Amino acid sequence: ASPLRLGIAGLGTVGTGTVKIIRKHAKLLSARCGRPVTITAVSARDRMKNRDLDLSDYDWEDDARALAVRDDIDVFVELIGGDEGIARASVTEALRAGKDVVTANKALLAIHGQELAELAEERGRVIRFEAAVAGGIPIIKSMTESLAGNQIRRVMGVMNGTCNYILTRMENGGLPYEAVFEEARQLGYLEADPTLDVGGIDASHKLAILAAIAFGTRPSFDAVEIEGIERVSIDDIRRAADMGYRIKLLGVAQMTARGLEQRMSPCLVPADSPLGQLQGGTNMVVVEGDSVGQIVLRGAGAGEGPTASAVMSDIVEIARGVRMPSFGQPARDLATPQAARTAVP
Ligand code: NAP
Ligand code: HSE
Repeated sequence: ASPLRLGIAGLGTVGTGTVKIIRKHAKLLSARCGRPVTITAVSARDRMKNRDLDLSDYDWEDDARALAVRDDIDVFVELIGGDEGIARASVTEALRAGKDVVTANKALLAIHGQELAELAEERGRVIRFEAAVAGGIPIIKSMTESLAGNQIRRVMGVMNGTCNYILTRMENGGLPYEAVFEEARQLGYLEADPTLDVGGIDASHKLAILAAIAFGTRPSFDAVEIEGIERVSIDDIRRAADMGYRIKLLGVAQMTARGLEQRMSPCLVPADSPLGQLQGGTNMVVVEGDSVGQIVLRGAGAGEGPTASAVMSDIVEIARGVRMPSFGQPARDLATPQAARTAVP
């Protein structure tokens, strides 16, 4: 069978993790896909950077946009990041050139997901983004495939590993914010601009994507009410603990009579509850469906291995010829949601 040929743009935490899995599990992937999965070419900003990875088998492209349109790739894998600039341009050009796209870029999807999914559909291609929400947790496929027979009532959870890491390490270790922040960086959790993490923006990008899938609406990131963890102090954490609570950055999306409610904010949760027990970079997503009831998914929300695992799930799906619509239904049919402000200040 003909190989599925990849062009991978971005060789940071997620990109190198993805290359490592493809090299380590070449036989396993070939057996599971019914065809080999190969890398044709890669791209990053600095060709000379030591990545602790043998890239000698692959062509190098300085420009991700040139990689995106190469005749000898089938799938463009965008692992650069950012909602504009090179990420948006290269993904758009890849779709226009008739490539399928896999990305981990939640900012891009939350803001331009509708237009990119429509472009993919127009060209008969797919854009897949399992890694964009909650790292290694297979929440996108769970919602678009396994829970497709449900009317979703609510989706909520802890969706940013950095914030959960910082909050739990501050509580458990009594460590200063700066030390904990550096640990999160070492673990590969942080966005290139970490204010997106602590400001609740990154988690809100993820919530907007899940809300779109849950309620059949266009991603509406602008309508998320957002408060990050910057103002949470060690005293707040201690006072919460004294009362038997923990502070978590919690996202909630639900369709109400007034419209779509989306909010992201630090919340008190009982310390002995499943959410209260979440440690480190772990994420938890709770989905409530009319037939299934409540589903709870928990796992590593960030970092090299878990995120690359999710990227691989999309690559395998494409290699197998699965052509699901990105948001669970054709993008042109997604409704424009009416935004409802929450009653909670
Ligand atoms: P990262 O470690 O900062 O890596 C970004 C990569 O993009 C680097 O290899 C960089 O090149 C490359 N790059 C930057 N500008 C470029 C350009 N103009 N052309 C080509 N390559 C360029 O980021 P990451 O953590 O792997 O994240 C990548 C994506 O995955 C982001 O969308 C992020 O939100 C998402 N994500 C990350 C995680 C996680 O746990 N880290 C989890 C889920 C989703 P150099 O190496 O040469 O600088
Ligand atoms: N910066 C993100 C986080 C990466 O900490 O959760 C995973 O999306």
